[in-house]
Amino acid sequence: MDSIIVTGNGPLQGQIPIAGAKNACLTLMPATLLSEEPLTLTNAPRLSDIKTMTTLLQSLGSEASSLQDGKVISLSSHDLTSHTADYEIVRKMRASNLVLGPMLARLGQAVVSLPGGCAIGARPMDLHITALEALGAEIELKDGYLHAKAPGGLKGAVHELRFASVGATENTVMAATLAKGTTVLKNAAREPEIVDLVRCLRKMGAQIEGEGSSTITIEGVDRLHGATHPVVTDRIELGTYMIAPAIAGGEVECLGGKLELVQSFAEKLDAAGVSVEETDTGLKVARRNGRVQAVDVKTEVFPGFPTDLQAQMMALMCTAEGEATLDETIFENRFMHAPELTRMGADIEVHGGQARVRGVERLKGAPVMATDLRASVSLILAGLAAEGETRVSRVYHLDRGYENVVAKLRGVGAQIERVKEE
Ligand code: EPU
Repeated sequence: MDSIIVTGNGPLQGQIPIAGAKNACLTLMPATLLSEEPLTLTNAPRLSDIKTMTTLLQSLGSEASSLQDGKVISLSSHDLTSHTADYEIVRKMRASNLVLGPMLARLGQAVVSLPGGCAIGARPMDLHITALEALGAEIELKDGYLHAKAPGGLKGAVHELRFASVGATENTVMAATLAKGTTVLKNAAREPEIVDLVRCLRKMGAQIEGEGSSTITIEGVDRLHGATHPVVTDRIELGTYMIAPAIAGGEVECLGGKLELVQSFAEKLDAAGVSVEETDTGLKVARRNGRVQAVDVKTEVFPGFPTDLQAQMMALMCTAEGEATLDETIFENRFMHAPELTRMGADIEVHGGQARVRGVERLKGAPVMATDLRASVSLILAGLAAEGETRVSRVYHLDRGYENVVAKLRGVGAQIERVKEE
């Protein structure tokens, strides 16, 4: 297991390329199960979660190859040999549950392990289940696995999600593409990753309208065909690197970044005294003068402030002038970075879903570790602004969602290295 060592060394300057979105790629890949013809994804991120999804799809009989150093993923699901997503794979990555809708639609059956809880919350699948049941699926839980069947095929229906879940929207939209008749999904999630999925499905021949709004209408078709699709820019990687010059000072251009992907987040940075400017090639971010100002943040579904940037924003607020309140409304246990940041000298109080952060003038390097992806990267960001050395252990969490984090931050002048843990 490796660690990352960061030593705060002042302002950053330069450009950071932003990769394709992990969470878009993780829903685009299972879309291969909907068609006998090949699906090629370009601009794919090189991440361990993508490898896990590849292994899962291969276990179902899909052929997968990685080209151009992993930036292109070529998938073909001509002959599926299994309809079971095994616990051994699903427990490593919750997004494995995104094979449920497509398998059910294509094969009329699917057996998918329930993922179990994870570090940030319980994360049940009830919304996926009720939506697929509305399309005529029969689903029961046996031995930790969801056994889903649709003997006569899925049928279009009008269904309203109780909460705008990203995964439930993705599973339902994919399933409905091959259902008989029209599906109207209300209170659908509006995240850019869903818009990207719909655009890809449309290239495959699906008839879908309304992506990016709360109502998505899907007209079922008999079959889908092959397609080539570029994965949308990763707005969470983008937001993460936008914090780097905000916390360490300096000016960084995030290549490929677009304001529309991070609007609510950019507004908070602006209120904190960080300028964000759209250029022809990306987003240029600079800290205007002195310390950033404290701003309150509440996580919400898109287009609200993303929960996946809450930990990184907390790191920034640790060094701000004043007191910030961070409300986490999406996941019930997503403040594990708070005690680690406290070890670096931050002043944070957590009560349930709310954290109060009183900014300090300077953080101090310390050995820290984190139990999830976004928490880990928030500690690296804090390390950029800390005096001395911060050693972040359990780096495998980072490898799930950030490619080349060391090279990208070194490229803008950060002092950061990856070392083998003793
Ligand atoms: N929920 C339910 N029942 C369900 C589904 C969800 O109660 O059937 C609850 C969850 O427990 C959670 C909330 O609804 O409290 C939001 O869950 P959602 O289904 O929207 O999230 P997800 O699809 O499981 C995706 C991302 C997460 C991101 C969330 C919210 C992927 C692979 N994952 O998860 O990404 O935090 O949406 O935006 O797309 C990350 O990348 O670090 C990450 C955790």
